Amino acid sequence: RYEQNAELLKRLSESSQFYQQQLTQHPDKKKATDYLSKDRGLSGQIAKVFGLGYAPPGWDNLFKKVGTRAESQEQLFLGGMLIEKKDQPGHYYDRFRDRIIFPIRDSRGRVIAFGGRAFGDEKPKYLNSPETPVFQKSQELYGLFEAKQNTPVLDQIIVVEGYMDVIVLAQHGITNAVATLGTSVNSQHIRKLFKLVSKVVLCFDGDKAGRAAAIRGLEASLPVMQDEKQVRFLFLPEGEDPDSLVRKEGKEAFNHRLEDASSLSHVLFDHARNQVTLGDEEGEAQFARNAMEMIRDIPKELTFRSVLIRQLSDQSGIDSETLSNTVFKARRQYT
Ligand code: UTP
Ligand code: MN
Ligand code: MN
Ligand code: MN
Ligand code: MN
Repeated sequence: RYEQNAELLKRLSESSQFYQQQLTQHPDKKKATDYLSKDRGLSGQIAKVFGLGYAPPGWDNLFKKVGTRAESQEQLFLGGMLIEKKDQPGHYYDRFRDRIIFPIRDSRGRVIAFGGRAFGDEKPKYLNSPETPVFQKSQELYGLFEAKQNTPVLDQIIVVEGYMDVIVLAQHGITNAVATLGTSVNSQHIRKLFKLVSKVVLCFDGDKAGRAAAIRGLEASLPVMQDEKQVRFLFLPEGEDPDSLVRKEGKEAFNHRLEDASSLSHVLFDHARNQVTLGDEEGEAQFARNAMEMIRDIPKELTFRSVLIRQLSDQSGIDSETLSNTVFKARRQYT
């Protein structure tokens, strides 16, 4: 895949260099450097580690610099960096304009896509590269390369929502965070992370969307669970994200929250309980069914699965065998 995209990757790398240069050389660079240092509290050093850049306003800055030949224009278009003019086929303009640029690297460090943040409240707040031959956003994790580079002993990985969360945590010495790219965390992500570490902490914003994302993360984790591996959940206070919280509380407090993160079983049983709509015995039965419905997604051979069924048995007073069987029959009716 990469060999046949060598040209494309070259152009993406040049694009990243261009944006980085603009951050240090453009006449209006102060707008960008002030945003990063004053508004977001980032050091120049951390900006370098993540290769942050500046796309100045204008329709053809990148085009003129990197798209000087027809072939390079084609590659930039293929890589999502240029957009074709509607009324002029074969003519292009820059996708990223007047934004802070976050290069997205694959786990080997090659630039495969970009995110661009608006300076103010312009929409969209973050503009991302489209899917391209080298960028499938549901498979990539922002910051994974940097986490591997900069964490002395990488034994757990924190999954957060945003670019800024990853970078600000890193600036505070928490270098093992990665972010999904505007998609929810999926089973592929977890599987990929389990190849590197035995513990994954899912940490989402303290808002409704963040809590919904945590439940999707729970569901995505179940089928790829392994014995000796763990997924934990860190719920942040209302209105906070990792960026705001670590800036407010500091590294120690954030690490303390990480240590206290909820276990998968705790979140699973809480969720099963929250979904109950009935009272009394009917509600208890609902709780048990809700929980089993999730537990049965865990691979059958795992000790972990047996442990959860045992816990559910303790909580519901229904013996383990009945639990498994009841749900099995109920599911068959619908399939
Ligand atoms: P958030 O809105 O929580 O971003 O979206 P954030 O990182 O806290 O933003 P700041 O702090 O205001 O800069 C989380 C992630 O969702 C994706 C981005 O990947 C972002 O980092 N997103 C968000 C988009 O792709 N587009 C958007 O318009 C907004
Ligand atoms: Mn949010
Ligand atoms: Mn956020
Ligand atoms: Mn934020
Ligand atoms: Mn609880």
